[in-house]
Amino acid sequence: GRRARPRIRDNQPAARAETILLVGSELGSTWGFAATLHAALTEAGQSVHTAPMSTFAPNRYVRANRIVVLASTYGDGDAPTSAKGFLDRLEALDQAPDAAVAVLGFGDRSFPAYCAFAGAVAAAAEAKGWPELLPFETIDRQSPQDFARWGRALGRALGIELELAHQPVLPVTEKLTLVSRRDYGVEVQAPTAILRFAMPRATIWQRLTGRGFARFAAGDLLGIVPEGSAVPRFYSLASGDRDGFIEIVVKKHLGGLCSGQLTTLEPGDHVSAFLRRNPGFRAGQDRAPLILIGAGTGIGPLAGFVRANARRRPVHLFFGMRHLDSDFLYGEEFSIWQTAGRLQRLVTAVSRGARPHYVQDALRAEGEEVARLVRNGARVMVCGGRDMAAGVAHALADILAPVGLTLVGLKAEGRYVEDVY
Ligand SMILES: Cc1cc2nc3c(=O)[nH]c(=O)nc-3n(C[C@H](O)[C@H](O)[C@H](O)COP(=O)(O)OP(=O)(O)OC[C@H]3O[C@@H](n4cnc5c(N)ncnc54)[C@H](O)[C@@H]3O)c2cc1C
Ligand SMILES: Cc1cc2nc3c(=O)[nH]c(=O)nc-3n(C[C@H](O)[C@H](O)[C@H](O)COP(=O)(O)O)c2cc1C
Repeated sequence: GRRARPRIRDNQPAARAETILLVGSELGSTWGFAATLHAALTEAGQSVHTAPMSTFAPNRYVRANRIVVLASTYGDGDAPTSAKGFLDRLEALDQAPDAAVAVLGFGDRSFPAYCAFAGAVAAAAEAKGWPELLPFETIDRQSPQDFARWGRALGRALGIELELAHQPVLPVTEKLTLVSRRDYGVEVQAPTAILRFAMPRATIWQRLTGRGFARFAAGDLLGIVPEGSAVPRFYSLASGDRDGFIEIVVKKHLGGLCSGQLTTLEPGDHVSAFLRRNPGFRAGQDRAPLILIGAGTGIGPLAGFVRANARRRPVHLFFGMRHLDSDFLYGEEFSIWQTAGRLQRLVTAVSRGARPHYVQDALRAEGEEVARLVRNGARVMVCGGRDMAAGVAHALADILAPVGLTLVGLKAEGRYVEDVY
């Protein structure tokens, strides 16, 4: 569920405030930073109005001298829920507000589109000719140090001392126990394991509210806090709560802290983990065909969608690997799921061999069929590394152009989604 936003004390009406704080947040952590900033500015004698970015209405800010925008980013540079409509409203203005603006992005450098939504807001503000109070800045993984540094710069711009001491709320972790592991890819220098953990026992509170691991689906994210670091790493879930277990696919990175720990786990060992919902990457309930495209560990959530496809929706899976004998993850299950009608078609692309073949090559080879499916309403879901995703996007754009479709258009309809890392 979504975390409620904190109560903002001394929140002044929009028409009376000198400073307007606008917040773009999905899971609530940015509201915590906004509350700290609101309190510090109020303490310094200012009148401050804090509200969601979606309420942006500059004609109401009659006494404002400055507007501060704090915004997180989701998906591939998408707006968080409380910022919906902001860019359209800004775009629709005849002229930019007089009060100068500062945009601060909240994000996570492990995502390719780092703070991309806040960046888009800053770019749109500049394009409108909106006067700038501070240059665009970002906060990585809720870093209190980054925030304090930005606060001092804001203080200098306002001619006040501003010390922002914000302690982010850390996710509540649970102990998960490994049940089984299956190893792949050692022979092709890509050691990868399918790790299955037992479902932790849900409390009554979790069952009622859907918190913790009570409800989740393939494509949601498992946050794991490795030993020796406070920064969680994310892994895409290959199972849903109905499967009765928690499964991820992990590739061991050379010198990698978390992947190193995960790939040496033995059954009975524990990890500290929490759930992050990823509603932008769900297979959905309708009957439209699915085109699933992934390589390497990216196969995890796609395998989860196939496993859950009891209603036999048509699924076409494109899977890139190095060698059929080494890293064909879920190879046995896929043939069982095909027989059961949960998977209509599996196309593999093998990159180590006489004729190296990547998943985007397989797509191009099937270009006409792919274009036909998409024209008839199919949904495309891509998961895996960013190089693969870039290659796939390129191939799809070429395949779809002759039938008059673009990736931008499909994205806007929610028919092209990515989980890329
Ligand atoms: C949305 C999302 C979904 C993801 N899903 C998955 C998934 O399903 N499966 C999966 O396997 N991963 C997934 N990842 C990636 C995962 O979160 C981690 O980034 C990955 O496991 C590396 O973490 P680490 O702690 O092992 O590496 P870190 O210790 O954080 O190191 C980061 C990088 O630096 C390199 N490095 C570190 N120390 C050294 C050194 N001394 N010498 C050379 N290189 C070094 C490592 O090789 C690694 O590539 C996902 C990421 C995101 C953002
Ligand atoms: C599903 C998901 C997708 C995310 N995508 C991005 C992204 O594309 N770029 C980025 O910089 N951060 C991304 N993040 C990180 C969040 O933006 C970051 O954690 C932020 O501090 C969350 O703020 P909030 O709790 O107010 O929503 C993502 C987080 C999740 C859970």
